[in-house]
Amino acid sequence: MGLKIIILAAGQSKRMHTHVPKVLHCLGGMPMLERIYHVGQSLDPEEIFIVCGHEGLMVKQQLAHMQVTWVEQAQRLGTGHAVAQVLPQLHEEDHVLVLVGDIPLITKKTLEKLTALDSSECLGIITTEIPDPTGFGRIVRDSNDEITSIIEHKDATLKQRKIKEVNTGIMIMPVNKLRDWLPRLSNHNAQNEYYLTDCIAMAVAEKYPVQGVLARNYEDVLGVNDRLQLATLERIYQKRVAEELMLSGVTFQDPARFDCRGEIAIEEDVFIDINVILEGKVQIGRNVRIGPGCILRDCTIESDTEIRAHSVIDGAHIGVHCIVGPFARIRPGTVLNSDVTIGNFVEIKKSQIGSETKISHLSYIGDSLVGHSVNIGAGTITCNYDGVNKHQTIIEDRVFIGSDTQLIAPVRVGADAMIAAGTTVTKDAPAEHLTLSRVEQKSVPWRKAKRPIKG
Ligand code: UD1
Ligand code: CA
Repeated sequence: MGLKIIILAAGQSKRMHTHVPKVLHCLGGMPMLERIYHVGQSLDPEEIFIVCGHEGLMVKQQLAHMQVTWVEQAQRLGTGHAVAQVLPQLHEEDHVLVLVGDIPLITKKTLEKLTALDSSECLGIITTEIPDPTGFGRIVRDSNDEITSIIEHKDATLKQRKIKEVNTGIMIMPVNKLRDWLPRLSNHNAQNEYYLTDCIAMAVAEKYPVQGVLARNYEDVLGVNDRLQLATLERIYQKRVAEELMLSGVTFQDPARFDCRGEIAIEEDVFIDINVILEGKVQIGRNVRIGPGCILRDCTIESDTEIRAHSVIDGAHIGVHCIVGPFARIRPGTVLNSDVTIGNFVEIKKSQIGSETKISHLSYIGDSLVGHSVNIGAGTITCNYDGVNKHQTIIEDRVFIGSDTQLIAPVRVGADAMIAAGTTVTKDAPAEHLTLSRVEQKSVPWRKAKRPIKG
């Protein structure tokens, strides 16, 4: 008997007021549906089906990398109808875990409470108790505390609306039972929909066992129906990430002002100041300090390095013991060796910078190979682009580049060369030479014109 997972994602996202399907809205930088898919995958199912409909093409295109079977629900007639669209592809002996596409904080641990049940013998459902259950389907129990039905909020009486135990939308059951129940669902309810949740009452009517599993932490199973809930869940997620990092040795100036939107690995004794955003795959070594307002995306920062305030590092490798920023921009394809200093308003793109090199102020270094112990003065620009192609600049070891130099690539500056301030380097500059190109300075007599006296 195989485990199949169905993720329902065909909803219209009405309450989001959006042209982008709800399940593509991101939490922690990842579309909600993708997050749920990864948790589903961690259970090692035989197959994952995703039911999509509204703007389904956009969902399929954006998440084409996921290994799932897409099933279309052309008309959105309810959660029961959505599951029915998958039925022809399921085998009699399978059992099915139904997830909804809008509960992004669901965890493997919670789902395992259901897969641990003997679902060939029962209908399992995850419930939770929630301080404000408005909008949720309520779990109705009899005097023996047995579940008898689920009543949707819109169909519930005032008394039923007081029930705090709610349906999470997550269920497990055998396919042979679904085949029996789904065709018998009716849409005589407030939303004129075929509710999957009505299967509970059918099971109870035929004395088929229904097992409720209570998720103690309701935050794990909260749904996102509008942008307010999305923002609330985003904060819960960020708080969890920050807590996990703190417990593994990271100090935050303020964990509430930190955002992780990717996969991160951080070693001990790292300090992160306020308003730092980490995106994509980020690795940070021991004893690194990240200043306030920094954005780090798809990069590695090796140990003992300091990234100062408001720097943006994207697709780069920063070696040990470097200083970067404040206000530096390090772009994709850049590698800084050890002990490099990059100062304020310096942009580096697709370049390798040797150890102990300093580029301290107001420079653009692109498509360059820079040796070790080079000093690049303020306002140095590599002119790497001729409007059609990009060209390389090579600056060898121990070169000193004076301020306000332009290097017209392709060009090479030999080791131990000195480039005088204000030079435009159009040809290779030989090693151990001073190269300069300057218009001779002259002075002519001049007196500032006097303003006419008014009146
Ligand atoms: C649903 C449950 C409710 C539960 C709540 C938990 C039903 C009838 N109601 O309500 O008991 O408390 O989730 O968050 O199941 N969908 C489709 N096709 C459809 C309708 C919905 O794929 O025709 C998908 C939606 O994209 C969504 C999920 O099913 O991912 C749930 O639908 P939604 O409209 O959000 O249901 P709720 O009102 O939240
Ligand atoms: Ca929902």
